[in-house]
Parts: sequence; C-alpha cells; structure tokens
Amino acid sequence: GAPIEVDLSPVAEGQDIKVFWRGKPIYVSHRTKKQIDEARAVNVASLPDPQSDEARVKPGHEQWLVVIGICTHLGCIPIAHEGNYDGFFCPCHGSQYDSSGRIRQGPAPANLPVPPYQFVSDTKIQIG
Ligand code: FES
Repeated sequence: GAPIEVDLSPVAEGQDIKVFWRGKPIYVSHRTKKQIDEARAVNVASLPDPQSDEARVKPGHEQWLVVIGICTHLGCIPIAHEGNYDGFFCPCHGSQYDSSGRIRQGPAPANLPVPPYQFVSDTKIQIG
C-alpha cells in the first residue's frame, strides 16, 4: 500500500477519526490537555508494556495520537473514548487502553502499535 495523507484540521480537540491504511483501521486522536496529562502522569515502569507517552507521539505535536486500531489480544477493533483510562476499550474481552493507546487492563499483551507516520505540515500527516 501507498502512503496516505490525513488532513487533521477538521478534527476538533477531544475527537478522533478512523482512517484506513493498508486495510488496517488507524485512529487519529486529537487529545485534550487532560488526556495528555493523564498519559504522562503514569509510572511507565508499572505498565504491562512499558513505553512513555513521549515515545509514542511526535515532539511538538503531543496533542495527536496515531495508533493502529487493532486489539493486540485477538484482533478486534477497540472503541475510542471508552473504558476506564480515557482511551480505548475492546468490547471482545474487555481490554482497556489509555489515552496513549497503552494497554492498562485486560488480556491484551501489548500497546496499540503506532504506525510509521510524519507531519508534512502542522495540520497534515502522512501515514506509511
Ligand atoms: Fe480485544 Fe480480546 S480481542 S480483548
């Protein structure tokens, strides 16, 4: 699959969109300050799949989270803005991901992966 460009300008703070890249659902979330603060207040060493929020977003664009929306348990599509961690909830077996897409609770073994992407302008990303 070819890279895709995603225009971020219509996505309001607190909202997210789902796009498809190589047949996979990708969530692009415009995080609120609360969501960013929550993601960064966590003790990274305590996480099942320890990764800092800083390592999962682009410097200077911390409000944007881009993740592959496929549960790392058995591949269901988690629902955005659901669950106990202001992130994603997988309805299949109850995995809970936080506002950085990191697994926090439930059977999934790993964080939602961040696809390869880059900012091509302040309001546009290229995925792939
Ligand atoms: Fe998501 Fe099992 S597939 S919790």
